[in-house]
Amino acid sequence: MSKKAFIFDLDGVIVDTAKYHFLAWRKLANSMGFDFTHEQNEQLKGVSRVKSLEKILAWGNKSVSEDEFNKLMVQKNEDYLTYIEKMDAQEILPDVAKTLDFLKEKEQHIALGSASKNARMILEKVNLLEKFDVLVDGNDVANAKPNPEVFLNAAKQLQANPKDCIVFEDAVAGIQAANNAGMVSIGIGDKNTLHEANYVFKNFTEITTDFLSQLIDK
Ligand code: BG6
Ligand code: MG
Repeated sequence: MSKKAFIFDLDGVIVDTAKYHFLAWRKLANSMGFDFTHEQNEQLKGVSRVKSLEKILAWGNKSVSEDEFNKLMVQKNEDYLTYIEKMDAQEILPDVAKTLDFLKEKEQHIALGSASKNARMILEKVNLLEKFDVLVDGNDVANAKPNPEVFLNAAKQLQANPKDCIVFEDAVAGIQAANNAGMVSIGIGDKNTLHEANYVFKNFTEITTDFLSQLIDK
């Protein structure tokens, strides 16, 4: 049996926090007198906090001082934290825990590759922290997805060759980052949105242990 590295994005893959990011950003935009759509929100998925705010301000045709920009970032995060405050293991998306357990049983490497600076806290809240051999998050990287840095960093720590890494992602930017890293990309979500991925599944309930075994043995 070969040893592969399975790298999981967090928001929208392990837990459904993508909806909380959306609500918090939308509240911020609304407070400034404009709105944005679900389609536009796809462009925010996987993207760092700074880059997200830059995009949103551009959509609303707003320009703000550096000081105001920083205040808006703090405001959004405070709002976001109120949504995730009460999170627990019930918010783990269906069959994610089962997939992690299967990979552990097969003695595969497991890593987190997330843009979020709140990643460690969320994994602790949902009680999954100890499943991960390596954690790379928004505090560790200089370049946001679609730059491959976050995934290459995880591979390096695991001493894994990028071609032996498999990435689970719900974001277009994340799929591009995995592809840019030379890794196998698995989209979790909509086939059309994530068409650049090597494989796409609606969620983990569609991913069979046979499929995972094939990835391991490739
Ligand atoms: C990504 C999310 O995982 O993390 C983005 O998909 C979010 O929506 C980014 O902006 C940064 O997260 P945080 O928690 O550091 O603001
Ligand atoms: Mg995500």
